[in-house]
Amino acid sequence: MYRTHTCGELRINDVGKNVKLAGWIQRVRDLGAMTFVDLRDRYGITQLVVDEKSAESIREKTAKLGREFVIQAIGNVRERSSKNKNLPTGDVEVFLNEIVVLSVSKVPPFTIQDDTDGGDELRMKYRYLDLRRETVRKNLELRAEMAHATRVYLNQQNFIETETPVLIKSTPEGARDFVVPSRMNEGEFYALPQSPQTFKQLLMVAGFDRYYQIVKCFRDEDLRADRQPEFTQIDCEMSFVDQEDVLKTFEGLTRYLFKEVKNIEIEEFPWMPYSEAMEKYGSDKPDTRFEMLIHNLTEKVKGNNFAVFDSSEFIGAINTTGCAEYSRKQLDELTDWVKRPQIGAKGLVYVKYNDDGSFKSSVDKFYSQDDLKVWAEIVGAKPGDLILLLSGDKNHILTALGELRLEMGNRLGLRDKNIFKPLWVVDFPLLEWDDETKRFYAMHHPFTSPKKEDILLLDSDPGKVRANAYDLVINGVEIGGGSVRIFNKELQSKMFDLLGFTKEEAENQFGFLMSAFEFGAPPHAGIAFGFDRLVSMFAGLNSIRDVIAFPKNNAGRDVMIDSPSTISNEQLDELNLKVVIKGKK
Ligand code: AMO
Repeated sequence: MYRTHTCGELRINDVGKNVKLAGWIQRVRDLGAMTFVDLRDRYGITQLVVDEKSAESIREKTAKLGREFVIQAIGNVRERSSKNKNLPTGDVEVFLNEIVVLSVSKVPPFTIQDDTDGGDELRMKYRYLDLRRETVRKNLELRAEMAHATRVYLNQQNFIETETPVLIKSTPEGARDFVVPSRMNEGEFYALPQSPQTFKQLLMVAGFDRYYQIVKCFRDEDLRADRQPEFTQIDCEMSFVDQEDVLKTFEGLTRYLFKEVKNIEIEEFPWMPYSEAMEKYGSDKPDTRFEMLIHNLTEKVKGNNFAVFDSSEFIGAINTTGCAEYSRKQLDELTDWVKRPQIGAKGLVYVKYNDDGSFKSSVDKFYSQDDLKVWAEIVGAKPGDLILLLSGDKNHILTALGELRLEMGNRLGLRDKNIFKPLWVVDFPLLEWDDETKRFYAMHHPFTSPKKEDILLLDSDPGKVRANAYDLVINGVEIGGGSVRIFNKELQSKMFDLLGFTKEEAENQFGFLMSAFEFGAPPHAGIAFGFDRLVSMFAGLNSIRDVIAFPKNNAGRDVMIDSPSTISNEQLDELNLKVVIKGKK
């Protein structure tokens, strides 16, 4: 037996017991007469001790121990003379009778502790060492707990957990596919699923009624803090349901997770139409932890000879509480911030509502105190507040104000990580027009059904059609998205037409789904949560990398196993492939 106890287990009532522990050496403190060794495993740290009374052989072995050696420690539990209140095992120590070195270690490239000295790249290269750190491991323990709780909830709700294949054919979710060459089918490729979308719909045709899967999805897209090329979804589909049934079930799951895992009761989730989210928050994923809403001042501000406003389609404002004190320098800096290419505003107009009730603005030349007072009333400003205005094309300015709102929310400390404000964003447009390619794209995916009352618009004004699509948003993060599906062949082929697929292309790519619809498809709807995003939100982290055991870096590389990598000529031959790199001979 390697061990009788873990390193997190021994307490005062174990004093006197002979025990065996196994683990990694956190540190060795040689105080001359005594040597203390901290032994660590997943469960905690226990102090081992040798002193002058210990056998010479033990003292010699202890002297040779190094950080991260794996040892078996055999000894007797005794009460510590100076206790460590910060450690659950801090009342006791193990007086060593024997040490067995199971494995030696090179000096680790960074310290295995919470505030490590290792930089990002180094920790990723030695991820197995990084995972030894308690903070990192705790995130993965949280992930496991949440996956378990998800299964408990969905099993209780009668969902069947079903695996779908990974070697498939393109599913359009808006990103590029990762492809895998087929050895047995020369010149042909599988695609890795961007989601199990079509399969879960086929399971509904098969009569499974309720399906779920905690499943890996693959998308070849630009990476950010909340995006990985392979990530995990809690993917679900239900039959004989409408939008409300789905939202109720998955609001139930979300609240269950908050209660079980964080012991937080969350109120019923509000629903917000997409149009309202865009107009008031400048985002389809509004952070509703704080107000600072966007107000439309277009009608009020035009016609005063201020050319910038007069030539703008839209002028919008937010009110920042208590910021009238902002200095010239701070305002200049904020102006630079909105002018950055990511935000793309041409400039920033401000109005300070002074404590004495007067106004000071960057457009005093064009507007009277009375004009500014009207603006202040519209945006709900009080003395001491600062009103910020942006102008330009409506959609662009709403988004820019949305970004400015988040930035000001950060600066004013209004985005508390311990407060959770979920909501459903509903009534998304069905289609999105792309000026570059001059065609419509499905805003969610091509299997999403239009709202019944908007179906007639499909012919006359497709851009106006709203979808039965919904997103779960928490604290400004898109946690999940789904829709009620089309379950009729004619409507599905009309959608493919609208999206610019020829009949042959639609048949080639999705013929299997449309045929399935000819064999009795039930009405169905579903949703998928981004599991990594949900876990990182529960953990209070900004990046999903921290809740993934072996993540990729921002260039999509796994620097530990050094992937992606080239393959041998033999492998290429077997696959009947030849690599030609553009621009190289
Ligand atoms: P969607 O594309 O909205 O819907 O994806 C669902 C959720 O998955 C998460 N997500 C990601 N997380 C990390 N890295 C990524 N690259 C990434 N891409 C998406 C987001 C998102 O809300 N098949 C549909 C669902 C349905 O209609 O039922 C789908 O995949 O949190």
